Amino acid sequence: MIHSRITGTGSYLPEKVITNFDLEKMVDTSDEWIRSRTGIERRHVAADGETTVDLAEQAARRALEAAGVAPADVDFIAFGTTTPDLVFPNCGTLLQQRLGCRGIPAFSLETACAGFMYALSIADKYVRCGESKRALVIGAETLSRITDWKDRSTAVLFADGAGAVVLEPSAQPGLLSTHLHSDGQYKDLLYCAGGVSTGIDGRLTITMAGNEVFKVAVLKLGAAVEEALAANGLDRSAITWLVPHQANIRIIQATARRLDLPMERVVVTVQDHGNTSAASVPLALDVAVRDGRIKRGDLLLLEAFGGGFTWGSALVRY
Ligand code: UT7
Repeated sequence: MIHSRITGTGSYLPEKVITNFDLEKMVDTSDEWIRSRTGIERRHVAADGETTVDLAEQAARRALEAAGVAPADVDFIAFGTTTPDLVFPNCGTLLQQRLGCRGIPAFSLETACAGFMYALSIADKYVRCGESKRALVIGAETLSRITDWKDRSTAVLFADGAGAVVLEPSAQPGLLSTHLHSDGQYKDLLYCAGGVSTGIDGRLTITMAGNEVFKVAVLKLGAAVEEALAANGLDRSAITWLVPHQANIRIIQATARRLDLPMERVVVTVQDHGNTSAASVPLALDVAVRDGRIKRGDLLLLEAFGGGFTWGSALVRY
Protein backbone atom coordinates (compact mmCIF):
# COMPACT_ATOMS: atom_id res chain seq x y z
CA MET A 1 0.00 0.00 0.00
CA ILE A 2 1.29 3.46 -0.89
CA HIS A 3 1.25 6.15 1.78
CA SER A 4 2.06 9.83 1.36
CA ARG A 5 4.72 11.38 3.52
CA ILE A 6 5.95 14.94 4.12
CA THR A 7 9.55 14.95 2.86
CA GLY A 8 10.26 18.68 3.09
CA THR A 9 8.86 21.88 4.57
CA GLY A 10 9.49 25.55 3.79
CA SER A 11 8.15 28.95 4.67
CA TYR A 12 8.66 32.60 3.92
CA LEU A 13 7.68 35.87 5.56
CA PRO A 14 8.04 39.20 3.76
CA GLU A 15 10.66 41.59 5.13
CA LYS A 16 8.48 44.45 6.35
CA VAL A 17 7.37 44.07 9.97
CA ILE A 18 4.52 45.96 11.66
CA THR A 19 4.66 45.75 15.46
CA ASN A 20 1.82 46.29 17.89
CA PHE A 21 3.47 49.61 18.75
CA ASP A 22 3.30 50.65 15.08
CA LEU A 23 -0.42 49.79 15.13
CA GLU A 24 -0.95 51.97 18.20
CA LYS A 25 -0.13 54.90 15.91
CA MET A 26 -2.57 53.75 13.22
CA VAL A 27 -5.74 52.77 15.13
CA ASP A 28 -7.18 53.07 18.64
CA THR A 29 -5.52 50.01 20.17
CA SER A 30 -2.67 49.04 22.48
CA ASP A 31 0.12 46.49 22.57
CA GLU A 32 -1.34 45.22 25.84
CA TRP A 33 -4.81 44.61 24.31
CA ILE A 34 -3.43 42.86 21.21
CA ARG A 35 -1.05 40.63 23.16
CA SER A 36 -3.52 39.65 25.85
CA ARG A 37 -6.49 39.06 23.49
CA THR A 38 -4.65 37.46 20.58
CA GLY A 39 -1.04 36.60 21.49
CA ILE A 40 0.20 38.56 18.47
CA GLU A 41 3.28 40.78 18.85
CA ARG A 42 4.24 41.54 15.26
CA ARG A 43 3.22 40.69 11.71
CA HIS A 44 4.83 40.81 8.27
CA VAL A 45 3.38 42.59 5.25
CA ALA A 46 4.33 42.28 1.59
CA ALA A 47 6.17 45.16 -0.09
CA ASP A 48 4.47 47.15 -2.84
CA GLY A 49 4.29 44.89 -5.86
CA GLU A 50 5.14 41.74 -3.89
CA THR A 51 2.44 39.14 -4.54
CA THR A 52 1.10 35.93 -3.04
CA VAL A 53 2.96 33.87 -5.66
CA ASP A 54 6.20 35.75 -4.87
CA LEU A 55 5.91 34.63 -1.24
CA ALA A 56 4.84 31.12 -2.24
CA GLU A 57 7.80 30.68 -4.58
CA GLN A 58 10.25 31.35 -1.74
CA ALA A 59 8.49 28.90 0.57
CA ALA A 60 8.21 26.29 -2.20
CA ARG A 61 11.90 26.46 -3.11
CA ARG A 62 12.84 26.01 0.56
CA ALA A 63 10.54 23.00 0.93
CA LEU A 64 11.86 21.44 -2.28
CA GLU A 65 15.45 21.95 -1.17
CA ALA A 66 14.67 20.30 2.17
CA ALA A 67 13.10 17.34 0.35
CA GLY A 68 15.94 17.12 -2.17
CA VAL A 69 13.48 17.50 -5.06
CA ALA A 70 14.41 19.60 -8.10
CA PRO A 71 11.74 22.24 -8.85
CA ALA A 72 11.33 20.95 -12.41
CA ASP A 73 10.50 17.48 -11.04
CA VAL A 74 7.36 18.58 -9.14
CA ASP A 75 4.39 16.73 -10.69
CA PHE A 76 1.39 18.21 -8.83
CA ILE A 77 0.67 21.60 -7.22
CA ALA A 78 -2.21 22.27 -4.83
CA PHE A 79 -2.22 25.91 -3.70
CA GLY A 80 -4.50 27.24 -0.94
CA THR A 81 -5.03 31.00 -1.00
CA THR A 82 -7.81 33.52 -0.63
CA THR A 83 -5.71 36.39 -1.97
CA PRO A 84 -4.69 35.29 -5.48
CA ASP A 85 -2.44 37.39 -7.74
CA LEU A 86 -5.02 37.30 -10.54
CA VAL A 87 -8.57 36.09 -11.12
CA PHE A 88 -6.88 33.70 -13.54
CA PRO A 89 -4.51 32.04 -14.28
CA ASN A 90 -4.64 30.50 -10.82
CA CYS A 91 -1.73 30.79 -8.37
CA GLY A 92 -0.82 27.10 -8.75
CA THR A 93 -0.28 27.57 -12.46
CA LEU A 94 1.64 30.83 -11.97
CA LEU A 95 3.93 29.00 -9.54
CA GLN A 96 4.27 26.02 -11.87
CA GLN A 97 5.62 28.29 -14.61
CA ARG A 98 8.20 29.79 -12.24
CA LEU A 99 9.38 26.38 -11.04
CA GLY A 100 9.64 25.08 -14.60
CA CYS A 101 7.53 21.96 -14.05
CA ARG A 102 5.41 22.44 -17.17
CA GLY A 103 2.39 20.39 -18.10
CA ILE A 104 1.57 19.13 -14.61
CA PRO A 105 -1.78 19.59 -12.85
CA ALA A 106 -1.66 22.83 -10.85
CA PHE A 107 -4.55 24.68 -9.25
CA SER A 108 -5.51 26.94 -6.39
CA LEU A 109 -8.46 26.68 -4.05
CA GLU A 110 -10.06 29.33 -1.90
CA THR A 111 -11.18 27.88 1.39
CA ALA A 112 -9.81 30.78 3.44
CA CYS A 113 -7.80 29.80 6.52
CA ALA A 114 -8.45 26.10 5.85
CA GLY A 115 -6.89 26.40 2.38
CA PHE A 116 -3.75 24.48 3.25
CA MET A 117 -5.73 21.68 4.92
CA TYR A 118 -7.87 21.28 1.80
CA ALA A 119 -4.83 21.37 -0.50
CA LEU A 120 -3.01 18.83 1.67
CA SER A 121 -5.98 16.47 1.70
CA ILE A 122 -6.31 16.53 -2.10
CA ALA A 123 -2.58 16.10 -2.72
CA ASP A 124 -2.50 13.20 -0.25
CA LYS A 125 -5.10 11.36 -2.35
CA TYR A 126 -3.15 11.89 -5.60
CA VAL A 127 0.04 10.57 -4.01
CA ARG A 128 -1.67 7.58 -2.42
CA CYS A 129 -3.36 6.54 -5.65
CA GLY A 130 -0.02 6.68 -7.46
CA GLU A 131 -0.79 9.64 -9.73
CA SER A 132 1.71 11.98 -8.06
CA LYS A 133 5.23 11.19 -6.91
CA ARG A 134 6.37 14.69 -5.90
CA ALA A 135 3.46 16.90 -4.89
CA LEU A 136 3.89 20.47 -3.74
CA VAL A 137 1.29 21.78 -1.28
CA ILE A 138 1.16 25.52 -0.62
CA GLY A 139 -0.65 27.90 1.70
CA ALA A 140 0.14 31.54 0.90
CA GLU A 141 -1.56 34.87 1.46
CA THR A 142 -1.25 38.62 1.15
CA LEU A 143 -4.11 39.42 3.52
CA SER A 144 -2.69 42.93 4.00
CA ARG A 145 -4.27 43.70 0.60
CA ILE A 146 -7.79 42.97 1.89
CA THR A 147 -7.33 44.38 5.39
CA ASP A 148 -8.96 47.68 6.29
CA TRP A 149 -6.06 49.31 8.11
CA LYS A 150 -8.47 51.75 9.79
CA ASP A 151 -10.55 48.94 11.35
CA ARG A 152 -8.96 47.99 14.68
CA SER A 153 -11.02 44.82 14.97
CA THR A 154 -9.24 43.23 11.98
CA ALA A 155 -6.10 45.33 11.29
CA VAL A 156 -4.35 43.95 14.37
CA LEU A 157 -4.94 40.33 13.31
CA PHE A 158 -4.27 39.61 9.65
CA ALA A 159 -0.96 39.52 7.77
CA ASP A 160 1.09 37.97 4.97
CA GLY A 161 3.22 34.85 4.59
CA ALA A 162 3.65 31.50 2.87
CA GLY A 163 4.28 27.90 3.80
CA ALA A 164 4.85 24.76 1.75
CA VAL A 165 5.34 21.03 2.07
CA VAL A 166 6.46 18.35 -0.36
CA LEU A 167 4.55 15.06 -0.32
CA GLU A 168 6.08 11.88 -1.71
CA PRO A 169 5.04 8.22 -1.75
CA SER A 170 6.31 6.04 1.06
CA ALA A 171 6.00 2.45 2.24
CA GLN A 172 5.72 3.81 5.80
CA PRO A 173 2.59 5.69 6.90
CA GLY A 174 2.92 9.49 6.80
CA LEU A 175 -0.44 11.24 6.48
CA LEU A 176 -2.71 9.00 8.53
CA SER A 177 -5.94 10.89 7.85
CA THR A 178 -7.41 14.19 6.76
CA HIS A 179 -10.90 15.45 7.55
CA LEU A 180 -12.47 18.48 5.87
CA HIS A 181 -15.65 20.38 6.70
CA SER A 182 -17.60 23.45 5.68
CA ASP A 183 -20.78 25.19 6.75
CA GLY A 184 -21.93 28.17 4.70
CA GLN A 185 -24.63 29.19 7.17
CA TYR A 186 -21.90 31.18 8.95
CA LYS A 187 -20.95 33.23 5.89
CA ASP A 188 -21.89 36.59 7.43
CA LEU A 189 -19.59 36.16 10.44
CA LEU A 190 -16.38 36.33 8.40
CA TYR A 191 -16.18 37.39 4.77
CA CYS A 192 -14.57 39.66 2.26
CA ALA A 193 -17.25 41.62 0.43
CA GLY A 194 -17.00 41.96 -3.31
CA GLY A 195 -15.94 39.63 -6.05
CA VAL A 196 -16.01 39.02 -9.73
CA SER A 197 -19.66 38.12 -10.18
CA THR A 198 -21.02 40.41 -7.45
CA GLY A 199 -18.83 43.41 -8.28
CA ILE A 200 -16.48 45.19 -5.94
CA ASP A 201 -18.34 48.43 -5.27
CA GLY A 202 -15.30 50.19 -3.81
CA ARG A 203 -14.74 47.82 -0.89
CA LEU A 204 -12.70 44.62 -0.83
CA THR A 205 -11.87 44.18 2.84
CA ILE A 206 -12.37 41.59 5.55
CA THR A 207 -15.41 41.91 7.82
CA MET A 208 -15.50 39.76 10.95
CA ALA A 209 -17.75 39.32 13.95
CA GLY A 210 -14.68 38.29 15.96
CA ASN A 211 -16.32 37.14 19.16
CA GLU A 212 -18.88 34.96 17.32
CA VAL A 213 -16.15 33.47 15.13
CA PHE A 214 -14.12 32.75 18.25
CA LYS A 215 -16.89 30.70 19.86
CA VAL A 216 -17.63 28.58 16.78
CA ALA A 217 -13.90 28.07 16.10
CA VAL A 218 -13.32 26.67 19.59
CA LEU A 219 -16.26 24.27 19.22
CA LYS A 220 -15.50 23.07 15.69
CA LEU A 221 -11.76 22.66 16.26
CA GLY A 222 -12.38 20.76 19.47
CA ALA A 223 -14.67 18.38 17.59
CA ALA A 224 -12.22 18.15 14.66
CA VAL A 225 -9.27 17.01 16.76
CA GLU A 226 -11.41 14.39 18.46
CA GLU A 227 -12.68 13.21 15.09
CA ALA A 228 -9.09 12.78 13.83
CA LEU A 229 -8.08 10.73 16.87
CA ALA A 230 -11.21 8.57 16.81
CA ALA A 231 -10.81 7.82 13.08
CA ASN A 232 -7.34 6.43 13.82
CA GLY A 233 -8.25 4.66 17.06
CA LEU A 234 -5.71 6.79 18.91
CA ASP A 235 -5.76 8.31 22.35
CA ARG A 236 -4.98 12.01 22.80
CA SER A 237 -1.82 11.00 24.70
CA ALA A 238 -0.37 9.69 21.40
CA ILE A 239 0.05 13.20 19.99
CA THR A 240 3.59 14.54 20.07
CA TRP A 241 2.80 18.00 18.66
CA LEU A 242 -0.34 19.99 18.00
CA VAL A 243 0.32 22.30 15.03
CA PRO A 244 -2.76 24.53 15.08
CA HIS A 245 -4.05 27.34 12.93
CA GLN A 246 -2.32 30.46 14.20
CA ALA A 247 -5.22 32.89 14.62
CA ASN A 248 -5.46 33.56 18.33
CA ILE A 249 -3.49 32.15 21.27
CA ARG A 250 -6.71 31.75 23.26
CA ILE A 251 -8.27 29.51 20.60
CA ILE A 252 -5.04 27.49 20.50
CA GLN A 253 -5.06 27.13 24.29
CA ALA A 254 -8.71 25.99 24.24
CA THR A 255 -7.92 23.26 21.69
CA ALA A 256 -4.88 22.15 23.70
CA ARG A 257 -7.04 21.93 26.84
CA ARG A 258 -9.54 19.78 24.95
CA LEU A 259 -6.68 17.41 24.11
CA ASP A 260 -5.22 17.59 27.61
CA LEU A 261 -1.96 18.68 25.99
CA PRO A 262 0.46 20.94 27.85
CA MET A 263 1.36 24.08 25.87
CA GLU A 264 4.94 22.76 25.70
CA ARG A 265 3.63 20.32 23.07
CA VAL A 266 1.87 22.95 20.99
CA VAL A 267 3.65 24.82 18.20
CA VAL A 268 2.83 28.51 18.65
CA THR A 269 4.12 31.07 16.15
CA VAL A 270 1.18 33.48 16.10
CA GLN A 271 3.22 36.05 18.07
CA ASP A 272 5.62 36.42 15.13
CA HIS A 273 3.27 36.65 12.16
CA GLY A 274 -0.37 37.08 13.21
CA ASN A 275 -3.11 35.32 11.27
CA THR A 276 -1.76 34.45 7.82
CA SER A 277 -4.83 32.36 6.92
CA ALA A 278 -3.91 29.46 4.60
CA ALA A 279 -0.20 30.01 5.30
CA SER A 280 -0.38 29.65 9.06
CA VAL A 281 -0.26 25.86 9.54
CA PRO A 282 2.61 25.16 7.10
CA LEU A 283 4.46 28.19 8.49
CA ALA A 284 4.23 26.86 12.04
CA LEU A 285 5.13 23.36 10.89
CA ASP A 286 8.24 24.58 9.09
CA VAL A 287 9.40 26.65 12.06
CA ALA A 288 9.15 23.66 14.41
CA VAL A 289 10.82 21.27 11.94
CA ARG A 290 13.72 23.65 11.34
CA ASP A 291 14.30 24.48 15.02
CA GLY A 292 14.41 20.75 15.80
CA ARG A 293 11.28 20.48 17.92
CA ILE A 294 9.50 18.22 15.42
CA LYS A 295 11.44 15.06 14.68
CA ARG A 296 10.95 12.12 12.32
CA GLY A 297 8.46 9.67 13.82
CA ASP A 298 6.55 12.32 15.82
CA LEU A 299 2.76 12.24 15.64
CA LEU A 300 1.43 15.65 14.56
CA LEU A 301 -2.11 16.94 14.66
CA LEU A 302 -2.66 19.81 12.23
CA GLU A 303 -5.89 21.83 12.20
CA ALA A 304 -7.28 25.05 10.75
CA PHE A 305 -10.51 27.03 10.76
CA GLY A 306 -11.63 29.96 8.64
CA GLY A 307 -14.21 31.93 6.67
CA GLY A 308 -17.18 30.03 5.33
CA PHE A 309 -16.85 28.45 7.74
CA THR A 310 -14.35 25.90 6.50
CA TRP A 311 -12.21 23.77 8.74
CA GLY A 312 -10.17 20.59 8.76
CA SER A 313 -7.53 18.43 10.38
CA ALA A 314 -4.68 16.14 9.42
CA LEU A 315 -3.04 13.51 11.56
CA VAL A 316 0.52 13.05 10.40
CA ARG A 317 3.32 10.64 11.29
CA TYR A 318 6.20 12.95 10.46
O1 UT7 B 1 -8.65 32.66 11.06
C1 UT7 B 1 -10.01 32.82 10.86
C2 UT7 B 1 -10.75 32.72 12.08
N1 UT7 B 1 -10.65 33.94 12.83
C3 UT7 B 1 -10.46 33.87 14.12
O2 UT7 B 1 -10.23 32.80 14.62
C4 UT7 B 1 -10.62 35.10 14.94
C5 UT7 B 1 -11.54 34.78 16.08
N2 UT7 B 1 -11.77 35.91 16.98
C6 UT7 B 1 -10.83 36.41 17.79
O3 UT7 B 1 -9.67 36.05 17.71
C7 UT7 B 1 -11.26 37.40 18.85
O4 UT7 B 1 -12.67 37.41 18.94
C8 UT7 B 1 -10.75 38.85 18.61
C9 UT7 B 1 -9.27 38.92 18.88
C10 UT7 B 1 -11.04 39.28 17.19
C11 UT7 B 1 -11.43 39.83 19.56
O5 UT7 B 1 -11.26 39.40 20.90
P1 UT7 B 1 -12.51 39.34 21.91
O6 UT7 B 1 -11.99 38.96 23.21
O7 UT7 B 1 -13.54 38.43 21.27
O8 UT7 B 1 -12.99 40.84 21.95
P2 UT7 B 1 -14.41 41.46 21.55
O9 UT7 B 1 -14.62 41.43 20.08
O10 UT7 B 1 -15.48 40.88 22.43
O11 UT7 B 1 -14.19 42.97 21.99
C12 UT7 B 1 -13.91 43.33 23.36
C13 UT7 B 1 -13.66 44.80 23.42
C14 UT7 B 1 -14.71 45.64 22.70
O12 UT7 B 1 -14.90 46.83 23.44
P3 UT7 B 1 -16.16 46.98 24.46
O13 UT7 B 1 -17.37 46.80 23.62
O14 UT7 B 1 -15.97 45.89 25.48
O15 UT7 B 1 -15.98 48.35 25.01
C15 UT7 B 1 -14.05 45.99 21.39
O16 UT7 B 1 -14.54 47.19 20.82
O17 UT7 B 1 -12.41 45.11 22.79
C16 UT7 B 1 -12.61 46.15 21.81
N3 UT7 B 1 -11.65 45.99 20.74
C17 UT7 B 1 -10.41 46.49 20.79
N4 UT7 B 1 -9.79 47.24 21.73
C18 UT7 B 1 -8.51 47.59 21.47
C19 UT7 B 1 -11.80 45.29 19.59
N5 UT7 B 1 -10.66 45.35 18.87
C20 UT7 B 1 -9.80 46.10 19.61
C21 UT7 B 1 -8.46 46.50 19.40
N6 UT7 B 1 -7.87 47.23 20.35
N7 UT7 B 1 -7.77 46.15 18.31
